[in-house]
Amino acid sequence: MREKLDPSPHGKLGYPDFSDGGKLSANDKQLHSGINTMIIGVPKEVKRDEYRVALLPVGADELTRAGHRVLVERGAGLGSGLPDHSYADHGAELVDTAADVFARADMIIKVKEPQPQEIALLRSGQVVFTYFHFAADRALTEGVIASGATAVAYETLRDDQGRLPLLTPMSEVAGRMSIQEGAKYLERPQMGRGILLGGVPGVAPAHITILGGGVVGANAAKVAAGFGADICLLDVNMDRLRYLDDIMPANVDCLFSDRHVIREQLRLADLVIGAVLIPGAKAPRLIEREDLRLMKPGSVLIDVAIDQGGCMETSRPTTHSEPTYIVDDVVHYCVTNMPGAVGRTSTYALCNVTLPWALAIANRGIDAAATALRPVAHAVNVFQGEVTNAAVAKTFGLKQSTRFGV
Ligand SMILES: NC(=O)c1ccc[n+]([C@@H]2O[C@H](COP(=O)([O-])OP(=O)(O)OC[C@H]3O[C@@H](n4cnc5c(N)ncnc54)[C@H](O)[C@@H]3O)[C@@H](O)[C@H]2O)c1
Repeated sequence: MREKLDPSPHGKLGYPDFSDGGKLSANDKQLHSGINTMIIGVPKEVKRDEYRVALLPVGADELTRAGHRVLVERGAGLGSGLPDHSYADHGAELVDTAADVFARADMIIKVKEPQPQEIALLRSGQVVFTYFHFAADRALTEGVIASGATAVAYETLRDDQGRLPLLTPMSEVAGRMSIQEGAKYLERPQMGRGILLGGVPGVAPAHITILGGGVVGANAAKVAAGFGADICLLDVNMDRLRYLDDIMPANVDCLFSDRHVIREQLRLADLVIGAVLIPGAKAPRLIEREDLRLMKPGSVLIDVAIDQGGCMETSRPTTHSEPTYIVDDVVHYCVTNMPGAVGRTSTYALCNVTLPWALAIANRGIDAAATALRPVAHAVNVFQGEVTNAAVAKTFGLKQSTRFGV
């Protein structure tokens, strides 16, 4: 049976008044002692140029209707066009500082991996539900392990068909956006070759090579095909290639990815999109520095896989404020949080898929949820200081706990 919230509200929204500077109030404590209720905290994202937020007002509504308490840091939704009152009107309590959110919440829901100032606020036993991408960041991994918090990673939540449903919408956004950005950086004032993706009658369109035909790659190919470009989509999974070959328009060729094919493509390409993934592991490196010599000056590399370390030797993480740099006359774009720039679209796309899992974890508690629900077991990367994800343990040579049997 779910414990009911204290029915004696003090706040104007019918929720207890939490104006005690972040310490646990009597009502917080009562909630903590309950079986199936949680305090859920939504901090404002602090990563540079990140405009998404981890919860929509409808999410605050659903969680509070399920008996949970929702704390939202003031201003958290503004980057996505969601004002504070839209949360307060749906049962959330607005909180002034991230420190208060982290101090009081049983579960933090975020978008990006905790930044150093956020890692310092994590508490033992606290659940953090967000993107982590541990394999690309040793300091983050060590910081979360040391905190004793439980890291539930969006990117490794795996459904029964082996899909990654919490990665999919952001990959859809990044894939579609990669062509939009590629088109921009091929323009001469942006140091590109001065190529229009679709060409014009009498002038050839751009050649686009897409490494990886998963969600990012397929979405990039679809948008690029709409522009009228010539596209080669490469993958190592033959079943996937057969499927893509069936559904893609005539201006998309689907090729098996090996070193020779990739090098041949680099000679032809105006724009290369890196979209490979080995789930939970560092991205395979497919383009070496010496390979850049094969490319035309002013061609553009967009390494979408940069959040997993990147698939090009010369890739290094960049931000929306300074998205590009040039190596050997090739423009590199390696923004780690591409969907952040289209915050409103991305927030809705993300929250549509994360809310049911946030509810499942809040309703059961993380231990019971990970035991009962296989997708959640896959999502737990670190459980109270123990690494439970095999790929993360392997990447950093750490012992893996098989607590949840995955
Ligand atoms: N930078 C960003 O803002 C951003 C946003 C979303 C996703 N991503 C990243 O984009 C990458 C791709 O994501 P996804 O959702 O498309 O993954 P996915 O699993 O759907 O697709 C990855 C594809 O790569 C293929 N692949 C693996 N090794 C390959 C190789 N050597 N050559 C060619 N193909 C190979 C796989 O067979 C698979 O089809 C991931 O690293 C993801 O984290 C980045």
